[in-house]
Amino acid sequence: MRKLQELITEEVRAAFEAAGFDPALGQVVLSNRPDLCEYQCNGAMAGAKALHRPPFEIADAVAEKLSDSQVFEKAESVKPGFLNLTLRPEYVRQYLVKMLHEKKFGLEMPAHAPKIIIDYGGANVAKPLHVGHLRPAIIGESLKRILRYAGNDVTGDIHMGDWGLQIGLVITELKHRRPELPWFDEAYSGAYPKEPPFTMEEFGEMYPTASAKSKASETDSEEDKAAAAAYKAEAMEATKRLQDGDRAYRDLWKKIMAVSLPNLRKNYDSLHVTFDLWRGESDVQELIPGMLDYFRQNGYAHESRGALVIDVAEESDTKEMPPCIVRKSDGASLYATTDLATIQERMGEFRPDMMIYITDKRQALYFEQVFRAAKKSRLALPETTLTFIGHGTMNGKDGHPFKTRDGGVMKLESLIGDTEREMTERIKASDTDMSGEEAEKTAKQIALAAIKYGDLSNQPSKDYIFDLEKFTSFEGDTGPYILYTIVRIKSILKKYEEQGKSAKDALLAAPGTAAEKSLSLQLTRFADAVEGAARELAPNRICAYIYELANTFNTFYHETKILAEPDDEKRQSYIALISMTRRLLETGIDLLGFEAPDRM
Ligand code: ARG
Repeated sequence: MRKLQELITEEVRAAFEAAGFDPALGQVVLSNRPDLCEYQCNGAMAGAKALHRPPFEIADAVAEKLSDSQVFEKAESVKPGFLNLTLRPEYVRQYLVKMLHEKKFGLEMPAHAPKIIIDYGGANVAKPLHVGHLRPAIIGESLKRILRYAGNDVTGDIHMGDWGLQIGLVITELKHRRPELPWFDEAYSGAYPKEPPFTMEEFGEMYPTASAKSKASETDSEEDKAAAAAYKAEAMEATKRLQDGDRAYRDLWKKIMAVSLPNLRKNYDSLHVTFDLWRGESDVQELIPGMLDYFRQNGYAHESRGALVIDVAEESDTKEMPPCIVRKSDGASLYATTDLATIQERMGEFRPDMMIYITDKRQALYFEQVFRAAKKSRLALPETTLTFIGHGTMNGKDGHPFKTRDGGVMKLESLIGDTEREMTERIKASDTDMSGEEAEKTAKQIALAAIKYGDLSNQPSKDYIFDLEKFTSFEGDTGPYILYTIVRIKSILKKYEEQGKSAKDALLAAPGTAAEKSLSLQLTRFADAVEGAARELAPNRICAYIYELANTFNTFYHETKILAEPDDEKRQSYIALISMTRRLLETGIDLLGFEAPDRM
């Protein structure tokens, strides 16, 4: 369905034309003086010079043509030459009714759904998820939902880091602890035990231990430095053996995956983050030798000091653009090798129109290299859009990357746990008749809203400060405020239905009061927000829209007696209006990846 702003622009264009001016001047925009009017048109100002006429004369002539419009209650020419526009309430009502009858509130769908793959999450197997994994997961999940809602055919892939040094480190640590295990017996040819050779607890601690052992600091003794270097060399050797297909190490890898995956799933589930594909770096290993041959044979890559590289610099570059290394001199493949092979696989399997990658913005240069290499080597088609979204850092109140109290890396689970505890306390402190169980469930829902909204209300590329107190507040531009508003509406609707009436059948009337009109107008702008968010890949546009909607609703709520309104027609209309508000707010938070409780 056409957007309201487009429709009224058409009306004003026709008036410009009827008055003898260029219709292109009739573009309507939101009013920057909402106290005076709802929309405005600055076309007379823009056209005055070319027309050799004072702007107010043009505006007067256009206003004259709009005087009996079915769209505008008021079209006023004001000096020096603006057109101030106010819509007829009945026109707004009809527009809202139409929205309610259409799918997705009239959001227009593309004729052919573009195929999009979103690569987000990027968890590394065997390592615990830490706060650094929060942003790509939250942003990616929201973008997936927004793009899907906007009519694209979207597939989300977690693209796990499941093939790198961290696996070699865990294997090495295991070998040091239990060299007697059959996996480390070269002569062993039987079947390996089914059970993993470590408990969950042990596994959780093995990677951090191994990682620490493989690193030495400046102040360490020579002996310790040598030990760390030897340990790391061992881990690299183990990684290489795994990648070369060693039977024992492949089996251990499977055990590591089997223990790691449920844990990852649990973490992502608690964030309401789901993936259509649980693929990873390991899935494309078979493709690598053929791909490297293809690069060489077609002259896309060349040897450089033993390594195989693709030159990706372009003449227009203003910054240095190093070549993309696709094979190291020792024959090992790298991060870029797997990413290129993954592009090849995705093109073959899905032929996407677009691939979107979400990681920390420090990977920007890397992805530029990979994208150029993919285009140059024709792994991706010229028309395939490859997009990188680099997110900023989540900082603590001190402005530095978020840490635990003692300065360590904070696990994602702890962050979520802390927020949930804070929320539970707030709920229990407010006088509530909720049972402990309901309070806890509600606290979880609000905590998730607090975390996600706190993140998504910023532009993805910006750093932000994780401020628990602010994020969990029921007032201001926060997730809990939005939830509170939804709960408020739900409770009014419930009371209305308890009077034996049906909110669904309530009829919308033309808005009477100013607050009612503002709320109605804000509802009409839903599609602009969703389209904008999808086009700019910006969930923050959805946040801004629903925040404004919640504010407009709350003003209406404070100025209007809804259930106590004696006039049945008006009361029904209020109910219809707030039901629609609720539906749009709920759709909005669903696009952000969280939901509202029934009460709070
Ligand atoms: N595992 C990577 C990391 O932790 C993120 C993966 C992002 N996706 C990709 N296709 N490279 O940095």
